[in-house]
Amino acid sequence: MSQPSRPGRLAVYPGSFDPLTNGHVDIIERGARIFDAIVVAVLGNVDKTPLFSVEERVAIIKSVFKDAPNVQVDTFDGLLVDYAQSKHASILVRGLRAVSDFEYEFQMALMNRHLAPGLETVFMMPAEQYTYISSRLIKEVFMLGGAIDGLVPPIVEERLRAKRSK
Ligand code: PNS
Repeated sequence: MSQPSRPGRLAVYPGSFDPLTNGHVDIIERGARIFDAIVVAVLGNVDKTPLFSVEERVAIIKSVFKDAPNVQVDTFDGLLVDYAQSKHASILVRGLRAVSDFEYEFQMALMNRHLAPGLETVFMMPAEQYTYISSRLIKEVFMLGGAIDGLVPPIVEERLRAKRSK
């Protein structure tokens, strides 16, 4: 018996990605295996001044996932749920590294559900070796001369090196 067809499951993975870390890469790869397509949605107007412009962040992510046909990269401003609905996405993906992430993520997931009941937030855990990585720590450690190899894609290390030498 033939299965009824269902629309492709599009997931949105939002974030600042300033810069992309191997923890993000791990979540995107896991999402790309589960969903029909995943859009990495880079927040344009972050409160704090980002190290990388939105164009730089998008270019980095596109370069890392150039061979992944179901990974798309886009930018958004304003409410995440409005953006996700405009893309006809049904899932929001967020990574959970530790219990400390939970409270903020729980609040955001429930607020997003209040705003858009049809959108489901799915939490994914990265591989253990990435659970302590954050974009903020990567920038701090690198700018102070610490080693970050293995924690970010090589292109991110290159771009950070270029920023440091400016
Ligand atoms: O990687 P980050 O910085 O933790 O990502 C946070 C992000 C971009 C997911 C969050 O700040 C967001 O969704 N911003 C868009 C504005 C919005 O919808 N705010 C209400 C969230 S409940």
